[in-house]
Amino acid sequence: MQRQKVIIDCDPGIDDMLALMLAVQAPELEVVGITVVCGNVPVELGVENTFRCLERCHRLDIPVYQGATTPLTREFISAQDTHGMDGLGETYFPRTSEKTIEVQDAATYLATTFAQPTAISVIALGPLTNIAQALQKNPQLGEHMQRFVSMGGTYKSHGNCSPVAEYNYWCDPDAAAYVFQHLNQTIEMVGLDVTREIVLTPTLIEYCRRMNPEIGQFIQAITRFYVDFHWQQEHILGCVINDPLAVAYFIDPTICTGFESFTAVETTSISMGQTLVDRYDFWQKPANSKILTEVDTYSFFGKFLTVILHAQEELIQTDLKNLM
Ligand code: BDR
Ligand code: CA
Repeated sequence: MQRQKVIIDCDPGIDDMLALMLAVQAPELEVVGITVVCGNVPVELGVENTFRCLERCHRLDIPVYQGATTPLTREFISAQDTHGMDGLGETYFPRTSEKTIEVQDAATYLATTFAQPTAISVIALGPLTNIAQALQKNPQLGEHMQRFVSMGGTYKSHGNCSPVAEYNYWCDPDAAAYVFQHLNQTIEMVGLDVTREIVLTPTLIEYCRRMNPEIGQFIQAITRFYVDFHWQQEHILGCVINDPLAVAYFIDPTICTGFESFTAVETTSISMGQTLVDRYDFWQKPANSKILTEVDTYSFFGKFLTVILHAQEELIQTDLKNLM
């Protein structure tokens, strides 16, 4: 099998951690680098959590690049209320290696990697600050990558940081707006319309523990805080794990369906971070995005659990029929 080369840009973060566990272990992917951005936690903490993932998954060979410490122009507001002070549900798991970051910063690494046409794609799981800065350095960035998938935004579903805005684009609306305007590559937007369907329920967490006690206990530990947050905030039993869907969809694009459209991001006013999806072509502008609106949750969990639990796909698929 020809593995697809990807760079993951992330802000771990509980669901970023789960997404990284999927990406670095999926047989279909070759993660050539990981870039970290400020988002859920300050960037230095995000880097530490990336290392924690690579240690657990025995993938210390993957280089990690530290990126932006603040959004392009706005004050940085983390999501530690959602992810815990350490970004991993206040588990404070110890580090087990001495791995350090690469010398290049994230934006320089991205800008130079895409200096020429490549077979590499980017999956962005956090605010788009690193991507915007790389694009400012190298305006051909988007044209030189294969695909660009971004977890962020929302079309019809309500926001999670304001009535209309999703966290990643709300945290750095200027970066999101810049990327949508200048990337010259279809932005495959895995927004809240689809990620809200991906609920890791207490039943599925228990299933993880039964199938692979060590990994299951780790998942249970890091999601506990997130589960409490979801109950207090939305009376959902379980937690919405946004970021792994972007990775699973990248691997298997049939998991989500949607439509192509021109999309802009609001940068001012009380609606900052809102994605304005011109589905009915009022503005008569060429499509710059693919907006995902439908998701096959069985296919997602089948892929996700098979990889992260190191399990047999057929067994997982059979069990899921009783569990979901
Ligand atoms: C996004 O914001 C973060 O809290 C999550 O990691 C995810 O990337 C969801 O709005
Ligand atoms: Ca994230």
